[in-house]
Amino acid sequence: MADKAFDDGHVTVNGYNLYFKSFGNEEKGTVLTVHGGPGLTHDYMLSIADLAQYGYRVVFYDQLGCGKSDLPKNIALYTIDRAVEDLEGFRDAMNLGKVHMLGSSYGGLLAIAYALIYQKHLKSLVTTGGIDDMELTISEMMRMKSELPKDVLATMAKYEEAGEYTDPEFAKVLEPFYKTYFCRLDPWPKELVYSMEHVSPVVYNTMNGPNEFTIIGNIRHWKVSQEQLHTIHVPTLVTCGKYDEVSPKVAKSIHRGIEGSKFVMFQNSSHLAMWEEREKYIQVVTNFLDNIGKKKASSRKIKR
Ligand code: ALA
Repeated sequence: MADKAFDDGHVTVNGYNLYFKSFGNEEKGTVLTVHGGPGLTHDYMLSIADLAQYGYRVVFYDQLGCGKSDLPKNIALYTIDRAVEDLEGFRDAMNLGKVHMLGSSYGGLLAIAYALIYQKHLKSLVTTGGIDDMELTISEMMRMKSELPKDVLATMAKYEEAGEYTDPEFAKVLEPFYKTYFCRLDPWPKELVYSMEHVSPVVYNTMNGPNEFTIIGNIRHWKVSQEQLHTIHVPTLVTCGKYDEVSPKVAKSIHRGIEGSKFVMFQNSSHLAMWEEREKYIQVVTNFLDNIGKKKASSRKIKR
């Protein structure tokens, strides 16, 4: 993109239009962000556009069925395999070349799944609250949930047993979980509120489940083995929050699997350190990205 600080629009990928937003110029490279949910919109990651101030082009997109992208109702389209091919199709259609890929939550899962097939198109990988193992993620969520106050749990159980997941009263009861393990800011940033209010029920219910800690959708058995993680050789930064709903145990598992990866736990954050500790988060990611450039430059010098 020639000196264009902001751009947005749609590109056609595998037969459907996907919405994108792009900030900054690619002086030092392009960061392609991947949102979670599955079914949220890119908006809740927009603080990451701050990286544009440090010489990176930052590209966001809404996955198929999400946000301002096409919203087909055919639930057979909502699989991890398809989402990986759409991500690759999007990178290609946008002519992004080799990218730094940054995935949040399920977006981190997707970025890992992408790297297992297409790491040749990656300069680096960043996962924030990312996932390699759903079973571990779910069992950790159950532990965190069990630590909520007893009366909250009793009310939750009442709605869960009745299957009344969409009852507005139930949403109120969930608040303590979301405010402890999802985003600790009060109030939530408007971009996060927007994403939550515009979540795709079709995608979220098909892939995730009715709420953040009831993961009964088609991603529930997803697991990438340590051996598979060992095959990822791009520079990798694994981050999580100390109080992350995708617990630090999961982040440590990704970190263990990807040799040479860097691990950072944000001490005052839950799932969304890009908001909860915005400046620090941007600084950590910028340092990581800048260092890749430096390492490459110095290894070139040594070769000469
Ligand atoms: N529901 C989790 C996410 O935000 C997994 O992607």
